[in-house]
Amino acid sequence: MTQRMDLQGRHIVLGLSGGIACYKAAELTRGLIKAGATVQVVMSEAAEQFITAVTMQALSSSNVYTSQWDAREPNAMAHINLTRHADAVLIAPASADLMAKLAQGRADDLLSLMCLARPIERCPLLLAPAMNREMWAHPATQRNVALLRADGTTLLGPGNGDQACGEIGDGRMLEAYELVEELVAFLAPKVLAGQRLLITAGPTFEPIDPVRGITNLSSGKMGFAIARAAHEAGAEVTLVAGPVHLPTPRGVRRVDVQTAQQMYEAVVPNAANYSVFVATAAVADWRPASLSDQKIKKNGNKVAPTFELTENPDILAAVAQLPDRPYCVGFAAESHDLLKHAREKLTRKNVPLIVGNLGPATFGRDDNALVLVDAKGHRDIPQADKLTLARALVSEIAQRLNASKP
Ligand code: C5P
Repeated sequence: MTQRMDLQGRHIVLGLSGGIACYKAAELTRGLIKAGATVQVVMSEAAEQFITAVTMQALSSSNVYTSQWDAREPNAMAHINLTRHADAVLIAPASADLMAKLAQGRADDLLSLMCLARPIERCPLLLAPAMNREMWAHPATQRNVALLRADGTTLLGPGNGDQACGEIGDGRMLEAYELVEELVAFLAPKVLAGQRLLITAGPTFEPIDPVRGITNLSSGKMGFAIARAAHEAGAEVTLVAGPVHLPTPRGVRRVDVQTAQQMYEAVVPNAANYSVFVATAAVADWRPASLSDQKIKKNGNKVAPTFELTENPDILAAVAQLPDRPYCVGFAAESHDLLKHAREKLTRKNVPLIVGNLGPATFGRDDNALVLVDAKGHRDIPQADKLTLARALVSEIAQRLNASKP
């Protein structure tokens, strides 16, 4: 897959304070640069004990700043100059000591001085805490966290799990790729702020016996990408997923189901609590009428078993019939006559928007092309990776929600 330039044109000041998680800052710098950002590294004296400024300079292709007495700046004001053109300051790792300093507004080294001197209205500060679990849980640290949040600082993590000290708990710095994903989400326009989205994704699995079932080739990638894009856009997102092998997008609530009936039960009774419903799931139209509780065996007489099928409920149509229904978006995966079938689905399911795509060409792939069909006409979203398409769809949904406001 080609690299998406999610941070193209962004200038990020990456601050490192002292902690073993400094080793992850090297990978983070690579991730930010690969995503198109320019990166300016600023390190505390303690950070230099864990990783060298040379490593960070080579990875960021830029001089590293470590001291407020740096003579390279003509006006001798590195602490001011560094943040004036930055889109964000991200400190990763943020140590307990640095957080204590920032909470108090102390400024006794370049990193803390620069944070205090940044233009607070237009240069957000994000911290990725990294410390032993006892340090994180300590009331003093938690007091500082509350103060920092009240000052408008955003905390990314910490994560939970094994720590370098051998203990297990809260306080791990998020992984580099998670921090890049969080930063991209943080900087995304919040076009769905205040909205609640319910999304179905993936195939369903309709069991025949304890080891077999009917399913399809849907990978769930499009629905998961929409969940991620909606979260980036500031929505609260619930993702009801059939059996898929995909990680849950950060910040998204996930409900796993197997059958169409389970998906129906997870969606329909709750749908009125959402403002938007997006049905990307490839729900099986039919399920075996009865479930064998034992594996169906060959019987030796070469007669294959026959199955009676029964129709599954149509989840999208059921949501679209609710009296206080959310804004409903359906998907049409077709093999031919895409526009015609999408239009027909718009009417039959009584939904305001159908997203058409060529089914066999997209199942399991990382890219796709969409056509949006509504009562007014249609619009193509050309071939791109699924997250790019999902972001375009999210912005289309946001425009339609705004247009329908009284
Ligand atoms: O015409 P078809 O049923 O294939 O329409 C597909 C659209 O309907 C998709 O949005 C799909 O998620 C949704 N659907 C559903 N429940 C079903 C079948 C399809 O929600 N049982």
